[in-house]
Order: sequence, then C-alpha cells, then structure tokens
Amino acid sequence: MSKVVLSYSGGLDTTVCIPLLREKYGFDEVVTVTVDIGQPESDVKEAEERGKKYSDKHYTIDAKKEFVDSLFMLIKANGDYEGYVLGTSLARPIIATKTAEIALKEKADAIAHGCTGKGNDQLRFENIFLQYGFKVIAPMRELNLTREWEINYAKEKGIDIKVSKEKPWSIDENLWSRSVEGGKLEDPSFIPPEEIFEWTVSPEKAPNQPEIVKIDFEKGVPVALNDERKDGFELIKKLNEIGGKHGVGRTDMMEDRVLGLKARENYEHPAATILLTAHRDLEKLVLSRRELKFKRMIEEEWAELVYYGLTNDPLYDALNAFIDKTQERVTGWVKIRLFKGSATPVARFSEYALYSEELTSFDTTTIDQRLAEGYSAFHGLQGRLYREIVKRKD
Ligand code: ARG
Repeated sequence: MSKVVLSYSGGLDTTVCIPLLREKYGFDEVVTVTVDIGQPESDVKEAEERGKKYSDKHYTIDAKKEFVDSLFMLIKANGDYEGYVLGTSLARPIIATKTAEIALKEKADAIAHGCTGKGNDQLRFENIFLQYGFKVIAPMRELNLTREWEINYAKEKGIDIKVSKEKPWSIDENLWSRSVEGGKLEDPSFIPPEEIFEWTVSPEKAPNQPEIVKIDFEKGVPVALNDERKDGFELIKKLNEIGGKHGVGRTDMMEDRVLGLKARENYEHPAATILLTAHRDLEKLVLSRRELKFKRMIEEEWAELVYYGLTNDPLYDALNAFIDKTQERVTGWVKIRLFKGSATPVARFSEYALYSEELTSFDTTTIDQRLAEGYSAFHGLQGRLYREIVKRKD
C-alpha cells in the first residue's frame, strides 16, 4: 500500500492532482490536507467537501493563529518585496509544515503539491517537505501540464470546478492578501477588469466621505482598532472590510520571481496597506534616524528571505532578533485617513517619541537657536573645498 499526502486548496490544480496521483503515479491512497490561513470560510468548506469527495481521506487544519503570529512579525519588519505585501509567501511554510505533520502521522511515502515549475510556491513548499525528509511529487511540474489540459482533464474525470476558459484566473487568498494571476492578465499592457477584484471597490466607487481609523500598537504589534482591543485575526479582518470599502489596497505590479522570471501580479490587501502605513509612521516618531536607516536594510533582507521561502535559514532568526529589539518602544497610536483608494497617516502619538515640540517649535526659545551658527560653519565644509578646487582647475 503506497500513500501520498497532498497539500490541497480545493482549486483546479490540486483537485486534478488527486486522480493523477492514482493514475499516473500509482498511489493506492491519496490523503488531502487543507490548511486554514484565513481564506474565505466558504473556500475552506468547499475544499473540505471536495477533498472528502475525491480523495481517500481529508484533513482540515486550522493554522490561523500561527499565521497571525507570522503576520505580526511581518508588520514589525514592514514586510514588502518590490511592493508586494508577501501574503502568499509567508503562508506557504506554515501550510507546508502542517501538511508535513499530517504526512508523518499518516506514515505517508511522499508529499505532493499542485505548484507549477514556473512559480515560487514549489520552492517554498519543498524546502519544508525536504526538511521533514519526505519525497516530493509535483504533478503539475513533472507532467508539464497546461491549464487548458487541466480544465479538459477535470471535465473528463467529472470534477466540478468553476474555472472557465473565459475566466481562468489563478487566485490565492489568505487573511493578508488576495492574488490574481493568469489569463489576459499575463499581458502587462492589459488593464485588469473590475471583475478580478473581490476585497476592494474601485476608488471611484468609494464613499465621498473620508473615514479615519485609529490603530494602537504595542511593541510593534497592532492591538486595538478605534480604541477597541481586538485579537490579531479580528483586527485584520475588520480592517480588510473597512479599507476595502474605501478602495484601499490594490496593487498591479511587475514582480521578479525567485527563478528570475518576471510576472504581472494583481493584489488586494486593504488591512496590510493600513497597518504597514500606520506602523511605518509610528516608527518614524519613535526610532532614531540611525535605527530607521539600518532597519531598512534589514527589512529588505527579511522580505527577500520570506519571498524565497527561506524562513528556516538561521539568518531569519537573527534578523527577527534585531527587529524585535527595535520594536520594544514602538508603542503608541496612529490615525489613518481612508479616502478613495488612499490611506494616509494624519496623526500619531507615543510615550516613546524621540520628538520634542518644546525643542522643535517655531514658537519656543528653550534651545538657543544661535548655537546652530557654529554647527553650520562646519556643515558641508568638504563640499565647499571641493567646489573651490574644481573652479581653480578650470
Ligand atoms: N506572486 C506571489 C508570490 O509568489 C503570489 C502568488 C499567488 N499564486 C497564485 N496562483 N495566485 O508569493
């Protein structure tokens, strides 16, 4: 008896994998695992129904808590890869870990996933599966399948799947972001139709009145929305709703995949936009100029590790230790104005602010501004000397 555990989303690719694993790979038993990382409940339910229907055994695993913990780290790190808020990237290692744990429990011979050989997810998944010592099976990649072939094969196998040839979007969704790829979107010069968006209204349809939201942070982590304490999951969910209503958090971008392929990506992420905007703003109030500058380099490295699915690298722990140290004082609140697609910081407060109104104000004399005269005499000295030399040589 050979058994394979399949990381299962309930979508076209992974559903097609079930009969393929039996027919083309000869497995006697296919076990499906769906991991809940805050995708719509209906998606989880649908995956569960399909898993039970088409596979031999199905598991649904709730990893919302783990995902929110990772998202808190992402917020502290201002997670951003080339303008992408990293939702899928950060979720993959969690999904992979949960799947590998089931594979251990089921004493499976291999783990399968439905990723193609062109994207990043194969790398993120397999890094973890291999860490757990499993043989990896990737039917989409190994059999060199196209979406068109899959759609036909699914029909042949009597698999009910809503993807049509007219709307062939490949969608990945979790609590943090929704990504849409494929079909006509693969032409970067094609403007995305409104129908691809589900979390956000178009800015022109957003309310004509702005709305201000207040976010409280403790040690870099959001803890309250409009003065009401909320756990991470509820807070992010609520902000996705409020931000989406104002058309906040759409990104249409070119992205450099790990393999070097450029891809056209469309994302929706209202809560991510609001929280990252607020968090960055609070850091500017609280962290020193040098901390901010150095942290930007750390953040770039952090985002790349996450995008590459390399969160098991020791560097990830080391970067997190630095980031956590800086966040000890990132406590306070920020008010963000949401209006027709924009999220703008309009007020902020922290007990740890490295800001003194008393010192900076136009209206105070606490500090004797005449002291700056001496500083100014030295400031730019080398540049002035250089310009003089150049002039002399001309
Ligand atoms: N480009 C993003 C990433 O690599 C998201 C990919 C999501 N996948 C999808 N089929 N929509 O993390």
